[in-house]
Amino acid sequence: MSGEDFNIQVSFRHQIRFTRGAFRADNALVSELLETRGRSKVLVFIEEGLRDFFPKLEGEIQDYFSDLSGLRLTAVEWLAGGEEAKRDDRVYHAAMGAIERYHIDRHSYVFVIGGGAFLDVIGFAAATGHRGVRLVRFPTTTLSQDDSGVGVKNGINAFGKKNFIGAFAVPYAVVNDFRFLHTQPEDTRRAGLIEAVKVALVRDGEFFNWMEANVLKLRALDEATLEEAVERSALHHARHIAEGGDPFEVGSSRPLDYGHWAAHKLEQLTDFKLSHGEAVSVGVALDTLYAAKVGLLEASEGERVLQVIENLELPVWHEALELRDAEGRRRVFNGLEEFREHLGGELTVLLLKETGVGVDVHEIDERVWEACAEELKERALSTV
Ligand SMILES: NC(=O)c1ccc[n+]([C@@H]2O[C@H](COP(=O)([O-])OP(=O)(O)OC[C@H]3O[C@@H](n4cnc5c(N)ncnc54)[C@H](O)[C@@H]3O)[C@@H](O)[C@H]2O)c1
Ligand SMILES: [Zn+2]
Repeated sequence: MSGEDFNIQVSFRHQIRFTRGAFRADNALVSELLETRGRSKVLVFIEEGLRDFFPKLEGEIQDYFSDLSGLRLTAVEWLAGGEEAKRDDRVYHAAMGAIERYHIDRHSYVFVIGGGAFLDVIGFAAATGHRGVRLVRFPTTTLSQDDSGVGVKNGINAFGKKNFIGAFAVPYAVVNDFRFLHTQPEDTRRAGLIEAVKVALVRDGEFFNWMEANVLKLRALDEATLEEAVERSALHHARHIAEGGDPFEVGSSRPLDYGHWAAHKLEQLTDFKLSHGEAVSVGVALDTLYAAKVGLLEASEGERVLQVIENLELPVWHEALELRDAEGRRRVFNGLEEFREHLGGELTVLLLKETGVGVDVHEIDERVWEACAEELKERALSTV
């Protein structure tokens, strides 16, 4: 027998920026971020749903590039977004077709402008075309700016499972342009804040205190407060990815997926009628109450979390939690098995021991968890 081990180290730069009006003539952010040697090509994908809100966007982008000598805009492609775009591989193939048609190579750039679902599917095309071309993300929803846009995951759903097909890839840059935040429906804008609550709960108790103190301003979608929450949350997510020691999730612990095992299952059980933000809200409420019930978290701390969620007008319960299989087991519990399988290894669910401090556990007592679901059902129905 013979052989040798080699260590392969690859280092990525994760560039996160915040701005307003990235394609305004006087905004140099984008041109300064990109390498402009040799007139690199830029292919822009915009989510179709943004057309009505930003009818001048394509023209602005064209004008922006016409003034730049080092970059060449090849095309602006409008494609369908939202969760529908992740359901099958049609949008993925449409994007891949454009990457091929416009001869986008590894020194060219793909820009993607849209919500989290659109970023996931176009990001997957960019991660796999030529085995990876440079991707610049412009997230346009609260959720995609405060969380998914800075993530390193791309993908689409398959076999009825969220994100079953995908690739890890660090984007070339992420430009959070606050101009996009203010056209979303109010409930969607608010729902995206759950990822900020989540990251505060698992990483930074002080940030949670700040959200709690500012919850009424956040509920009212006060511009400056919303933008501060988005920025702090995005940087926390990025810092966790860069410094948490497991950017590509080789281990079994996934703190940024707090509350997500139930959330992903609820999205699937509702045929994605429940949005990711709302589903995460229910998942976070349940896992938080559960931690209090099993004695990991002070009951009063759990109550603070539930109140922040409710004050943001987000759900703590959903009727899909009631769905049962032929044996009478709640179908949401299949989410635990799917969560484990997605990662491999031992089941690892993060729970809270304080606001801002998580702890990994390896089993969930279904009876206790069910009692939490019942309690939150009563709470939800009593406030209707
Ligand atoms: N890759 C990751 O790390 C990661 C992390 C968290 C979530 N996600 C994924 O992100 C997706 C959810 O993202 P989302 O919450 O942004 O929802 P979304 O992308 O489904 O967008 C929701 C709706 O908002 C519309 N929209 C987008 N921007 C708008 C704007 N500026 N004004 C008005 N309408 C706008 C879209 O057309 C869509 O109809 C899920 O698929 C989730 O799994 C991925
Ligand atoms: Zn999420």
